[in-house]
Amino acid sequence: MAGLKQRSVGIVMNGVTGRMGYRQHLVRSILAIREQGGVRLPDGTVVWPEPILVGRNEAKLAAIAKDHGLDNWTTDLDAALADPAAEIYFDAQVTSRRVEGVRKAVAAGKHIYTEKPVAEDVGTALELARLAASAGVKVGVVQDKLFLPGLLKLKRLVDGGFFGRVLSVRGEFGYWVFEGDWQEAQRPSWNYRSEDGGGIIIDMFCHWRYVLEDIFGPVRSVQALAATHVPERVDEGGRPYACTADDAAYGIFELDGGIVAQVNSSWATRVFRDELVEFQVDGTEGSAVAGLRRCRVQHRSVTPKPVWNPDLPATEDFRGQWQDVPDNAEFDNGFKAQWELFLRHVVADGEFPWDFLAGARGVQLAELGLRSAHEGRRIAVEPLSL
Ligand SMILES: NC(=O)c1ccc[n+]([C@@H]2O[C@H](COP(=O)([O-])OP(=O)(O)OC[C@H]3O[C@@H](n4cnc5c(N)ncnc54)[C@H](O)[C@@H]3O)[C@@H](O)[C@H]2O)c1
Repeated sequence: MAGLKQRSVGIVMNGVTGRMGYRQHLVRSILAIREQGGVRLPDGTVVWPEPILVGRNEAKLAAIAKDHGLDNWTTDLDAALADPAAEIYFDAQVTSRRVEGVRKAVAAGKHIYTEKPVAEDVGTALELARLAASAGVKVGVVQDKLFLPGLLKLKRLVDGGFFGRVLSVRGEFGYWVFEGDWQEAQRPSWNYRSEDGGGIIIDMFCHWRYVLEDIFGPVRSVQALAATHVPERVDEGGRPYACTADDAAYGIFELDGGIVAQVNSSWATRVFRDELVEFQVDGTEGSAVAGLRRCRVQHRSVTPKPVWNPDLPATEDFRGQWQDVPDNAEFDNGFKAQWELFLRHVVADGEFPWDFLAGARGVQLAELGLRSAHEGRRIAVEPLSL
């Protein structure tokens, strides 16, 4: 990299032994950015992330560091934050530990990037947003679904006017999470205990807020029904535990313009879909079905006219009547793409709209979804401000 100015940025990465912290953030984002030679700014400067691994388990941290040729790791968060070379604090701990970590980072004057949800309740999320604003540090929250190829193509369709007037959105998210008895669960057990920050509403409604708002428009109300379909599971240590959190949520959201969005989220459903999440959008001019990677459309001009007749077997190949939306671009890993934007935001003031207030909006929708489920009624979503 002769002739290029390198700008190192120390990043305290807390929770790097966890699923998200390790795979998506360390390996697929920060290390991938290093492998590609850093992030190049318009003036030629190369931003070079230097991870400082933080976690609770010394042996796991040492193993990760060794596997990836890294040497900066510690179990002492305070010591990591005291390092002047660390400019960013990143948090991928369990949700219930996040607020404490973020508060310490604000006090240490670090810029902060965090997994969602930013906090477990909207009051605390707003408080963190205010704290960060008054400390003058830059903040961001992971909103990875916006960078999925399928949803990027869906947004392109909306922006290009494909749908005419959007009428409705129907989302289906979920898969079977094993109970942990005869087959190991593929998600950590804290997800199924509300006292540990678990629950599918707090996990997924944060995502649905920004997906719906960035692609279609503001969410004006929520009505949700929550269920704990599987009442007992077996944890990582082989001990049975009671599930105290919701493992499925059936939500209806009203958006601006009369758009009705209905999203099912479930860890207790078996997949008969092409992808783990899919959204069908129906509009006056056409419809689309978007998943993680694919997006298919049917324009009104080629819409078939099925006639209901249960006496005859289906004569049409309905799925075959849809057309793939081409990529027309290269799509990078969504977590990495957002990390690059955050690094540009920190070093060169690049735009980064997904701040703590955006994070708080996600938490707000989750909180109101839980309240709606508890009270059995539809609840208005009021605008939030700092
Ligand atoms: N953006 C997304 O798509 C996405 C997906 C899954 C999870 N998440 C978020 O990422 C965060 C981490 O989730 P995960 O699935 O990686 O969890 P995980 O259990 O695999 O990892 C949790 C991390 O927190 C640490 N930790 C600290 N205190 C802990 C405690 N008391 N109990 C257990 N772990 C503790 C662990 O050491 C580990 O590093 C959560 O806030 C979750 O909401 C985001």
